Amino acid sequence: MRPTDRTEPDAVDRARELLRPEAAERASDPAATDAGYLDLLGGELDSTGAFQDLMTTRFVPAIYERYWRPALARMVKGITGPGMAEEIRIARLLLGLGPGDLVLDVACGPGNFSREFAPAVGDDGLVVGVDASPTMLARGVNDLRAAGLGNLALIRADAAELPFRDGVFDGVCCFAALHLFADPLAALDQMRRTLAPGGRIALMTSVRRQLSVPPLKPLLQRASGVRIFEPDEIVTALADRGFENVRQRLAGMVQFVGGRLPPA
Ligand SMILES: C[S@@+](CC[C@H](N)C(=O)[O-])C[C@H]1O[C@@H](n2cnc3c(N)ncnc32)[C@H](O)[C@@H]1O
Repeated sequence: MRPTDRTEPDAVDRARELLRPEAAERASDPAATDAGYLDLLGGELDSTGAFQDLMTTRFVPAIYERYWRPALARMVKGITGPGMAEEIRIARLLLGLGPGDLVLDVACGPGNFSREFAPAVGDDGLVVGVDASPTMLARGVNDLRAAGLGNLALIRADAAELPFRDGVFDGVCCFAALHLFADPLAALDQMRRTLAPGGRIALMTSVRRQLSVPPLKPLLQRASGVRIFEPDEIVTALADRGFENVRQRLAGMVQFVGGRLPPA
């Protein structure tokens, strides 16, 4: 891929073309890109709990990709669960990425997965990472510049109100985040809406296993703000939204789920 030091303006300009008219209007304010990413949110989202709050500190984004994410994921996936390299492989496999694809990474954090998708879609493709946390995105901008990727744009927006037009993406990824959203099913509706016919979805989120005893579930959820999905909840939610060939892989208290929309 062509390295460039004018990375994000090109990619952000291409991402603007995917926006709904009202979002495009907001994006036309020059101040919207002051932070190096395109800020379409303005204010703060209501917190869903302690875990969500950590994502907007300065400390967690600084150590997120190297230490926080691998360590925490290992705890919930179990020692035999996939490591980070394998998670990336699962995401890419479920998304079936190829040159020219447009990919949306919902709740991208610092762009740790988005950056891995960029080489697969090439210069003709585009990866758009969306997150609500300014500190995660600020870290993402630094990492993106260091990587010199010209086909990755970062946007600040709410997963439950994605600012994109219908049917513009070939793949949508949402790893380690659905369980943090105030309304995960509304976010799934939005992901479905922005996918083109034949589009693929890749999710990694929580799942209740024997270890998470049902009576403890509400307590755990209230304390952390992390929702624990029932074993068939996400698979059913995808099937209800028209996804076919829905596949689920379990690892500890985590599930990887993928599906594909029928072609046009
Ligand atoms: C644990 S990180 C996941 C980052 C990355 N996807 C990964 O797998 O490592 C969760 C991210 O979800 C973001 N987030 C939480 N609620 C959100 C919402 N409603 N809209 C957009 N992003 C949200 C947080 O800011 C945080 O960066």
